Amino acid sequence: MKKIDIFDTTLRDGEQSAGINLNTQEKLEIAKQLEKFGMTIIEAGFPASSPGDFDAVNKIAKTVKNSIVTGLARSIERDIDTSWEALKVGAQPHLHVFIATSPIHMKYKLQRTPDEVVEQAVAAVKYARKFFPLVQFSAEDASRSDLDFLARIVGEVIEAGATTVNLPDTVGYATPEEYGAMFKYVKENAKGADRVKLSCHCHDDLGMAVANSIAAVQNGAEQVEGTINGIGERAGNAALEEIAVAFHIRKDFYNVDTGVNLVETKKTSQMVSRLTGVVIQPNKAVVGRNAFAHESGIHQDGMLKNRETYEIITPELIGAKDEPLALGKHSGRHAFKDRAISMGFELTDEQLNAAFIAFKELADRKKEVTEDDLFFLFTNQQTKN
Ligand code: KIV
Ligand code: ZN
Repeated sequence: MKKIDIFDTTLRDGEQSAGINLNTQEKLEIAKQLEKFGMTIIEAGFPASSPGDFDAVNKIAKTVKNSIVTGLARSIERDIDTSWEALKVGAQPHLHVFIATSPIHMKYKLQRTPDEVVEQAVAAVKYARKFFPLVQFSAEDASRSDLDFLARIVGEVIEAGATTVNLPDTVGYATPEEYGAMFKYVKENAKGADRVKLSCHCHDDLGMAVANSIAAVQNGAEQVEGTINGIGERAGNAALEEIAVAFHIRKDFYNVDTGVNLVETKKTSQMVSRLTGVVIQPNKAVVGRNAFAHESGIHQDGMLKNRETYEIITPELIGAKDEPLALGKHSGRHAFKDRAISMGFELTDEQLNAAFIAFKELADRKKEVTEDDLFFLFTNQQTKN
């Protein structure tokens, strides 16, 4: 089986979503859970972007020892110095530097010529390698870059000391065929590409982030980047839990091992949802509350005869054994409040009242109200105020 690394950027790219603002304590709680989930690398933030980010990255690097902890930096010495101060306490200090390589980004955003961009990228990687044993270089907007230019800059940063090269689909524009072909091209044409790890990083603007990530792995990527629940800028990033479960369920086809501890999937997903306030859509693959619900008579009948008729993923696999609650339509407000607290929610009286009314309505309609239903009711109220 081919081993691939999982690079989680929930706390950096994920936190860039509109409306999300995690404090250091919350980030630390998520990072510890990501470590349990088996993430190879955790991108804890962007240390030079704010004192709060610096502090969170530093505390996570001090605490997490079974995953590599990294931080993002622009290709400038000031960012690299700040990142070193935040990350040097880590077990294996790792830095993620980036610069844009597409014509539109170089011309309008950076206002630099392609030669100047190569020069800046090479200087940044060389400088970073003075401190960090592990340096990842990202060619931002790689999927809209000229392929020959991409192969050139990748070859030069490898010579400068990059240990991983990431080729992001920054704006979620690529199709799986194109994205896979880009990896094949770079692997075959960039000098030294066989000596480093290639990484993929996909955004979901056209709903293809997971498919694009899988196409990259089929064409030589050995690292997949993404976030829990697919949170991130605009339409979000590739959802890591979907990728990990897809590779597991279809190992007969892909022959890939992610090393992810799948039984922690549901817990990780719910923690990220609760702390970010981003509600998980009910029909979301793998972690949506309807992912294991069978409504139609024909499906229920099939399930009773043999679960495999309609169930390709078991709830047990992802740690989602969703037992009916002891709470029902006769339960009181007190027990309801206790349950919210034990699930980690801190709701105001107003939010609790609204959730309780919604719970009673649901209990009237459904025979069995589950913990997943309750989780949905609580997160829904939490995001309202
Ligand atoms: O989407 C992107 O290009 C990024 C880079 C900073 C890696 O998030
Ligand atoms: Zn991104």
